[in-house]
Amino acid sequence: MTRMHCQVIYSTERTPWNPKDWRPFVIVSCAISLDGKLASACGETRLSSFDDKVEVHKLRSLVDAILVGINTILHDNPHLTVSEKYYKSDRHPMRVVLDSTCKIPLDAEVITRHPEVKTIIATSKRASHEKINKLRELGVDVVVFGENEVDLKQLLMYLRKKYDVKVLMVEGGGLVIGSFFKMALVDYLRVSVSPVLFGDNAISMVRGTVFCSVEDSPKLKLEAVELCGSNIVLNFSVIYNSLVS
Ligand SMILES: NC(=O)c1ccc[n+]([C@@H]2O[C@H](COP(=O)([O-])OP(=O)(O)OC[C@H]3O[C@@H](n4cnc5c(N)ncnc54)[C@H](OP(=O)(O)O)[C@@H]3O)[C@@H](O)[C@H]2O)c1
Repeated sequence: MTRMHCQVIYSTERTPWNPKDWRPFVIVSCAISLDGKLASACGETRLSSFDDKVEVHKLRSLVDAILVGINTILHDNPHLTVSEKYYKSDRHPMRVVLDSTCKIPLDAEVITRHPEVKTIIATSKRASHEKINKLRELGVDVVVFGENEVDLKQLLMYLRKKYDVKVLMVEGGGLVIGSFFKMALVDYLRVSVSPVLFGDNAISMVRGTVFCSVEDSPKLKLEAVELCGSNIVLNFSVIYNSLVS
């Protein structure tokens, strides 16, 4: 019998992962300290328990694409595929990186590991043609959306239309998560809370945007609570006024 890695403590009816016509269903998934940080001031990011990682890699195997920001690539050098260490699957999602100036190193794991899995670098008009061409020679799909930073709506439209991405998982970091919330583009939030405190000068889960009041905050509806090893995982659906998203 396979061991259950997470124990469901509370659950209501789960939101189905239905994409919109023009964009994928967007899930934000991240691990935070008890005080809401993705990484400590010293760069510590080991916030997931083994059981939580199993769930995250299982989730990766179910979605069509995973997206992160360039700072996460530079800091952690993740490969963003499903790791056998946690979950065995032949299905790997496509990988998407937001990188306005194409500063991603050519030997980044997201490019070199599992070259059979598509990687998309979403950049802006600030990127040099030379670097764009170098990345394309390596088989990377480089797309230019936006003047200064990546235009998320154009990118999501592209992913839906060109690659039929129905479910996209945004794994961070804070600036990227902040941008998706600011643009009202998040449908579901999975936060794994680790029982540690990081204190000041750490990387917050939502950066680059301010929600001044309870009314201004995206409305989150708790759908499930799970215990994954030492982590408590909170699952929320995100409710927006239908006019904005
Ligand atoms: N605990 C976790 O689950 C978890 C998950 C992921 C990351 N992390 C940690 O988070 C930290 C990195 O987070 P971060 O907030 O510094 O950076 P980030 O969100 O990883 O990357 C942000 C960068 O992406 C680029 N970008 C391009 N278009 C963008 C857009 N529309 N919106 C937002 N960003 C855009 C910008 O750089 P350019 O202008 O140069 O393009 C921006 O500075 C690392 O320490 C990493 O280890 C933790």
